[in-house]
Amino acid sequence: MRYLITGGCGFIGCNMVRFVLSQQPEASVRILDRLTYAGSLDNLGEEADDPRVEFIHGDICDPEAARSATDGCDAIIHLAAESHVDRSIFGAEAAVRTNFEGTFRMLEAARDAGVQRFLHVSTDEVYGAAEGVSFDEDAPLLARNPYSASKAGADRLARAYWVTYDLPVVITRPANNYGPYQYPEKLVPLFVYRALRDEPLPVYGDGMQVRDWLHVEDHCRAMLTVLEHGVPGEAYNIAAHNERPNLETIRLILDELGKPESLIQHVTDRPGHDVRYSMKGDRLAALGWEPQTPWEAGMRATVRWFADNLTWLETAYQRGRDFFEKWYANR
Ligand code: NAD
Ligand code: TYD
Repeated sequence: MRYLITGGCGFIGCNMVRFVLSQQPEASVRILDRLTYAGSLDNLGEEADDPRVEFIHGDICDPEAARSATDGCDAIIHLAAESHVDRSIFGAEAAVRTNFEGTFRMLEAARDAGVQRFLHVSTDEVYGAAEGVSFDEDAPLLARNPYSASKAGADRLARAYWVTYDLPVVITRPANNYGPYQYPEKLVPLFVYRALRDEPLPVYGDGMQVRDWLHVEDHCRAMLTVLEHGVPGEAYNIAAHNERPNLETIRLILDELGKPESLIQHVTDRPGHDVRYSMKGDRLAALGWEPQTPWEAGMRATVRWFADNLTWLETAYQRGRDFFEKWYANR
């Protein structure tokens, strides 16, 4: 199989590059990545020099880059995105452009190239807040912030390319991921970074918002399962069945690092904060996938990974510094 992985230098992308090559030694992987603040060739490690890996530095919104990267590929795993809710609230343009227009360009390129499978990676956030419910794949998409709304648009556009043009699209809606190489703007690596420096941890509101935590390796396995066994046109929730209030996650981070809970600082809530994400996972379970990583062991190992890779953490953090200074000032 010849894969194209968009966003292959980001968090989930670099883990997926490794996973695909480990599971399918005969496969080749081409990466199309613009290397925004969130992406880095460092994330590829040894895989950057693997002869099975080809890197193309380009923007998914550029039709020529999308076309030439797609040329000769059997399957596309479309991960490239502006993936941070807070940044999309601060300024929505980049999310709308990359997540919606960029997906449009990739779908067009895939159609021209006649690929066998297009895996569109959506998100559980497209459903909006799961207050008192757990969504199945037929629930309406009631996204409530610019990031999730741009992803909801892309999710439906991907489906439209199956219905209208017979492009063999499969869609996944994963829960919140955690694991090595996550960019330190997201809760877990940001709080590890700050706790290690004895800086306060800015908990939005009461910290009782609930997220369902999926280890990135379980996620990678789920993506291959859907690529290989998913029905074109269908969407598949990737639920971890591991719902935790943020404060529980934060206390575990502090415990693993041996830092005091006095670092917790409640700050002004995120506008339009989705209080809970929750999905049913029956459709993917029927394809034989279930999450395997135990919550506490997986989270502790992840926290340790960041603490053991301080140069990586610091370098990544510095690339996004401008945003952090503006977003967290006066919160
Ligand atoms: P990330 O921000 O860590 O990485 C995104 C990657 O895309 C980076 O390498 C970046 O350089 C690249 N990129 C951004 N804009 C680009 C453009 N215009 N052209 C080419 N490359 C571009 O994101 P992630 O956490 O790895 O998320 C990957 C995908 O999974 C996204 O589609 C996201 O919406 C989805 N998702 C993520 C999570 C999560 O918890 N991280 C949960 C559900 C769904
Ligand atoms: P985040 O990692 O940004 O993922 P998402 O918003 O896509 O779920 O945030 C996870 C949870 O942590 C979410 O409820 C918001 C909360 N959070 C904070 O309380 N403080 C922070 O500084 C960040 C980044 C997140």
